[in-house]
Amino acid sequence: MSGRLDWRSGPAGPLRGSVGVPGDKSVSHRALMFAALADGRSRIRGFLEGEDTRATAVVLQQLGVRIETPADGERVVHGVGLHGLRASAQPLDCGNAGTGMRLLAGLLAGQVFDSTLIGDASLSKRPMRRVTDPLAAMGARIDTQDGLPPLVVRGGQRLHGIRYELPVASAQVKSALLLAGLYAEGETEVIEPHPTRDYTERMLAAFGWPIAFEPGRAKLSGGHALRATDVDVPADFSSAAFFLVAAGIVPGSELRLPAVGLNPRRTGLLEALRLMGADIRIENEKNSGGEPVGDLVVRHAPLHGVELPEALVPDMIDEFPALFVAAAAAKGRTVIRGAAELRVKESDRLATMATGLRTLGITVDETPDGATIHGGTLAGGTVESLTDHRIAMSFAVAGLAAQAPVRINDCRHVATSFPGFMALANGCGFALDVVG
Ligand code: S3P
Repeated sequence: MSGRLDWRSGPAGPLRGSVGVPGDKSVSHRALMFAALADGRSRIRGFLEGEDTRATAVVLQQLGVRIETPADGERVVHGVGLHGLRASAQPLDCGNAGTGMRLLAGLLAGQVFDSTLIGDASLSKRPMRRVTDPLAAMGARIDTQDGLPPLVVRGGQRLHGIRYELPVASAQVKSALLLAGLYAEGETEVIEPHPTRDYTERMLAAFGWPIAFEPGRAKLSGGHALRATDVDVPADFSSAAFFLVAAGIVPGSELRLPAVGLNPRRTGLLEALRLMGADIRIENEKNSGGEPVGDLVVRHAPLHGVELPEALVPDMIDEFPALFVAAAAAKGRTVIRGAAELRVKESDRLATMATGLRTLGITVDETPDGATIHGGTLAGGTVESLTDHRIAMSFAVAGLAAQAPVRINDCRHVATSFPGFMALANGCGFALDVVG
């Protein structure tokens, strides 16, 4: 990805209409990987056409998997079986995707051939020892650059299962170990300090792999097979989040977000916004392929600051940039604690949001693991996204409620998770355009 793309988001609203956000990123990555390792042909519907998930598809193609695109948002994956991948002569480029790289590290650790995983400038700064250390304890050999990508995964190792207590709540680390566990002798058990998204566990079960799991714990053993299964990907709650906050802070707004994935390990922001006074209803709740989905209907309501319960943090780990904006527009103080993980996301999200909001006239006190945001009046100004997709979209939301336009520098990475954001946003009442 090259070239800069700057946005300007002006005061606007009210927001109205129905906004169909794209497919879930976490589910799309995993569906591709499990379908690739399965015996037979799997169809994925609702696939996220984002750069992150497309990068994973290209990596799997480089490893010898045939993947067809019969229509936008659809993939047909011709699985090669657990032992059917073949070496790629070229490095495998995960782009901006931490999920892609960390899960693939686990998957590739069990192969008979060597692989090299690379990423873009942002991914190349993200910590990888959290996966390579426990994978090494399973017998894997993975070289890092002082804990950072590129990762050189040495094939032909004999993996054995371990019981691992995760030091930080991370679905990516848990998933990497479970993927390696497919190839390991004996039992692999992962225990989390707080339950995280369980798509890997649910999908392994759907693909026919015996697995025992409950919130915070998962256990499987190697030596079985995956059978091809069709996957319906729900709309991504993390993409819906920007519209929940936007309608929540712009008077007169009412938006419907249809068929959004409501896995409880993802919906912490719903609870946080409700604690702040938001008016959000769930309608048409149903079960889709084992996942709860429903329409979210959000109406503007005055928000007030809260002390965010720490227990909510892992369930809304990707939603903090949006929450910062809700807090900035709310009355009173919002206190965030226990969120140090935000410092190692696509950017240091505590610092990036604090700096941007201060530029827009909001007082933010940053702490090592959180921030206190003093709600106030958002002014116009120029902020930096630092190429972080969720920061860019959050400041687009801030612009709606600001007194003058907000310029957001370097928004090209929005396409990693939310292609078409600008069109959807403008379709419901944003005043968002490209500048520069
Ligand atoms: C993800 C897990 C989370 C999240 C990321 C997607 C996943 O990362 O932030 O966007 O699909 O497993 P961590 O596991 O690092 O918390």
